[in-house]
Amino acid sequence: MHRDDLSLEFVRVVERAAIAAARTMGQGDRKYSDQVAVEAMRKEMETVDIDGTIVIGEGERDAAPMLFIGEKVGRSGTAVDIAVDPLEGTNLCATGAPNAIAVLAASEKGGLLNAPDIYMEKLVVGPSSKGKVDIDASVDENLKTIARCLEREVHDLVVVVLDRPRHEKLIADIRKAGARIKLIGDGDLSAGITAAVVGTGIHAVMGIGGAPEGVLTAAAMRCLNGEIQAKLVLTKPADRERLDRMGIGSLDKVYKTEDLAPGKNVIFAACGVTDGSLLRGVRFFGDGIRTQTLLMTAVPHQVRFIDTIHAKDDPNVKIRF
Ligand code: FBP
Repeated sequence: MHRDDLSLEFVRVVERAAIAAARTMGQGDRKYSDQVAVEAMRKEMETVDIDGTIVIGEGERDAAPMLFIGEKVGRSGTAVDIAVDPLEGTNLCATGAPNAIAVLAASEKGGLLNAPDIYMEKLVVGPSSKGKVDIDASVDENLKTIARCLEREVHDLVVVVLDRPRHEKLIADIRKAGARIKLIGDGDLSAGITAAVVGTGIHAVMGIGGAPEGVLTAAAMRCLNGEIQAKLVLTKPADRERLDRMGIGSLDKVYKTEDLAPGKNVIFAACGVTDGSLLRGVRFFGDGIRTQTLLMTAVPHQVRFIDTIHAKDDPNVKIRF
């Protein structure tokens, strides 16, 4: 499926969603922030030459007006499966907190798991620890393994955990093992990306977050040579029904990176909405708008940081460095 122009077209798509969401930053209305990002992403997607199918989106057809699972997107062309999170970190955007991003992953048909919109226990690590950790092992064992792989002590590790009551035991276990913790309000997808990039000061992400974000994390791991291991988690009876409908029986199954994003030609694009650890957020200035996007492809293996100035259509426009 690889087409360089196609991956660059996806940059436009995430940029549009990020700009729309960023306009609402700090307005305190997470649903509205999400809505404008979804609408902008959907509109821009119409101009892309693909025969796209949403496999991870805003929800099931009856629950989401746009970008619902199974929705066809694009003008026509290459058959592509698409996973989107038009605004990852709706609360982060609504409060102006760091690390809100607009995200899209794509692959040839069947290349991204159609995961149910429920929770997932996740363990995300970078290239050095890939293949060495085990989500079924204890927190203490995994931290010792990660430390060994990174040739450092456990107390020199930083683990990102979503700040949720459900993580009380996990947090206690990490503290007992001696590692440092960064608690985040939202956004375990952008945290996962950070854990797979050397030099960010983040060495792992642990805990329970959304399964759709897990698939998107896996797409990013395919391009960053990191690893995600995950297990589905039920929190309400409706989750069981959903799994039954999808033919998923056991909750013991460990999904690895290649199970969640098995495609050969995985593309991942994320545009910063608010400033974050890896990406700058959208900046509005008199003569235009500036965005920063992370664009990655598994084949060829490329990781690009794309800084774009969307200049005003004005004969006197000034471009600043
Ligand atoms: P939204 O973008 O939908 O607000 O999700 C943000 C997020 O923090 C994800 O990064 C994470 O996987 C999930 O929500 C955790 O869910 P919950 O907030 O229910 O604990």
